[in-house]
Amino acid sequence: MTQTNTQADTQRITARAKEMFAAEMAVLGENTPKSRALFERAKATMPMGVASSFQAADPYPIYLSHGHGAEVTDVDGRTYFDFHNGFGAMAVGHAHPLVAAAIEHAAKTGTHFAVTTETTVALAEEICRRFHLERVRFTNSGTEATMDAIRVARGVTGKDVICKIEGSYHGHHDAVMFSVTPGLDLVATNAEDARTDHLPASKGIPTGMAQWTLAVPFNDLGAVERLFEKRSKDLACFIIEPVMMNIGIVLPQPGYLEGLRQLCTRYGVVLIFDEVKCGATIAAGGAIERFGVQPDLACFAKSMAGGTPGGAFGGKAELMDHIGDGIAQQGTFNGNPLVSAAGLAALTEVLTPDAYEHFKRIGTRLAEGCRQAIAASSIPAHVIDLGCKGCVSYRPEPLVDYRSFLETNADLFDASWAWMVNRGIFLTPGNEEQWTLSVQHDDSHIDRFVEVFSEFCVTIGG
Ligand SMILES: Cc1ncc(COP(=O)(O)O)c(C=O)c1O
Repeated sequence: MTQTNTQADTQRITARAKEMFAAEMAVLGENTPKSRALFERAKATMPMGVASSFQAADPYPIYLSHGHGAEVTDVDGRTYFDFHNGFGAMAVGHAHPLVAAAIEHAAKTGTHFAVTTETTVALAEEICRRFHLERVRFTNSGTEATMDAIRVARGVTGKDVICKIEGSYHGHHDAVMFSVTPGLDLVATNAEDARTDHLPASKGIPTGMAQWTLAVPFNDLGAVERLFEKRSKDLACFIIEPVMMNIGIVLPQPGYLEGLRQLCTRYGVVLIFDEVKCGATIAAGGAIERFGVQPDLACFAKSMAGGTPGGAFGGKAELMDHIGDGIAQQGTFNGNPLVSAAGLAALTEVLTPDAYEHFKRIGTRLAEGCRQAIAASSIPAHVIDLGCKGCVSYRPEPLVDYRSFLETNADLFDASWAWMVNRGIFLTPGNEEQWTLSVQHDDSHIDRFVEVFSEFCVTIGG
């Protein structure tokens, strides 16, 4: 059957998705009694029973006990092929021998001194080489990386207002917690009327901070230009994920990043790429390499730290060298030997040019398999892959911005998630995320994913 996607089809498939989700969740409940018990225990000490709210799930999350290679095992002893990969932080895969050896060495020779080590210097050199940066500083997370990059931009320009993309996520510090998942009624700006009355995405953030954070839709250069014309004298920086990856995967349209670069230069606004997800996953040199556009500052975390809690940001010396001249950037654990050793091993020994060839081959194989399964059914969906990242989004046409993401069919995602997890494919529980492959995935993992997904498409779409 070819894709028809009439309204009647969509209603039928959505109803079927809801039924399947309920049935699959009942099975999941039967299969995960120890996760349920651990949830009951964890709730007593941790809000929502988890260490980070992103880990929470309804009715309870699947708790893992260990991972090896491309596989993870839950507390009930069930093993999965892992396509979640720690929200995209594990491009090296679990317990990679070279990363494990680097961590073991650090564990035996000192994990922390709060003094910069040669390993940290070597990691700084490798990050600068890969991403064409002149200077870099370390952090402990992506949140800190974007917070510090914005601090530098504000400190150097002496301007306070920042601009981000509508519906983008850059961590959970106050400045970027606006226009993260706005409802359609709250989508911020058309730049003609750049909204500053949007609400923070969390309680506890002063609502008055909205005046410092503007948002424009992705892939809309006209909106940026109109905003810059009016507000560039107040605007310190424009922070953007060059490929939007918190709503599936949204590619920049041809010329968009180049145009943004030109506008930021023309209007004296610091361009910041948030490469927390893209860097080290979509190409060796991240989005900077893939799209050939150089920002003024860039932020990194997740896969660049080899599965340990590290981050970094850097860019032009003329900006970064103001650190030490009145701009605060610090942290007890920044660039500690443990994280630096894992990051250095990941970037220099594991995520080599061969690794990106591997990602391209298996990523294409996975995307193509899913594409064929969708084409053979009547499911309104499309597939995108980029290096070791990719996803199925439940909307027939590719997304261009956050507003188009609001048109995806979340019921279909939920049904597919439960179906896949019950058949041994571990995925992030949310249609805003995507798969992450590791160097330890091979054709057998890919083919099993495609097999299970194809069965899902046949069962739901017919
Ligand atoms: C694009 C982007 N920036 C920043 C962050 C924040 O990183 P972290 O969770 O390490 O603080 C994330 C986390 O998912 C992210 O996806």
